[in-house]
Amino acid sequence: MLAPMEKVTDSCFRYICHKYGADLTFTEQIRFETLVKKNKSALDRIRLYDDTPTMIQIMGKDEEKLGQFLKEFIPESGFQGFNLNLGCPSQSYVRQGIGSAMIKRPTKVKRMVDIIKDHGYNVNVKLRLGLTKAEKREKVYLKLIEKVDADFFVVHARYRSESYERKADWKVFPECVETGKAIVANGDIKTKEDVKKMKEIGCVGVMIGRATMSNPLIFGQLKGLQLPPVKSVKQEYIKLSVKRTGTYSEEVF
Ligand SMILES: Cc1cc2nc3c(=O)[nH]c(=O)nc-3n(C[C@H](O)[C@H](O)[C@H](O)COP(=O)(O)O)c2cc1C
Repeated sequence: MLAPMEKVTDSCFRYICHKYGADLTFTEQIRFETLVKKNKSALDRIRLYDDTPTMIQIMGKDEEKLGQFLKEFIPESGFQGFNLNLGCPSQSYVRQGIGSAMIKRPTKVKRMVDIIKDHGYNVNVKLRLGLTKAEKREKVYLKLIEKVDADFFVVHARYRSESYERKADWKVFPECVETGKAIVANGDIKTKEDVKKMKEIGCVGVMIGRATMSNPLIFGQLKGLQLPPVKSVKQEYIKLSVKRTGTYSEEVF
């Protein structure tokens, strides 16, 4: 799976990653409280453009607004369901009690997941291991996985304040799998050996983020597919991006 990444995983990048091997893609995060206001740039961020299998990643905490958003939501082809973001480390979101601040609130998250399901949509959750090292030690992530009835849980194996310089803690995956819930592993996964290891642990999938930015062909490479040269894929990406958005970002690919 292609990880949700702000300012990276727009419709063009998702299309390219899926065309060359990713089974499932995720939009960058968006507040559903903003979507309810029908803000044009927010709505553009969840526009799908094509049939690429996509989960729309939402975050927020107002359950009434969530219901209102879902009532008015019209799925496009390619839409596979919603992903609830419980991982965002941003200080301003944490202060508002959303993103990774919600990992220790399983009852609330359960209600939100149930609201999405009641509207007939698939829903999965992406979480970190907690807000702090202490929360990780208390295993708040396990309590959440046990309590919430989502289709699957993407576990980014870091707590909120952990920087990317420290390797993700893959030791947590076996206990997540032992809950009996479907677990997708995330954090520093790049090679065939990494994928094999996650399969052996019992994870149902892997999610890849940063490694796709220099190499969106990584999914096809891991699957052993026949692939075109990166240079020609880059031209394809630029052409599509210019067509859809009028520009393209050098930083993405
Ligand atoms: C530029 C960037 C933007 C990101 N934006 C999001 C986001 O919008 N939502 C989210 O859940 N995670 C976001 N993440 C985290 C990634 O989805 C992923 O969990 C993290 O990079 C670890 O995976 P990796 O080691 O394969 O990169 C972002 C990461 C990066 C590098």
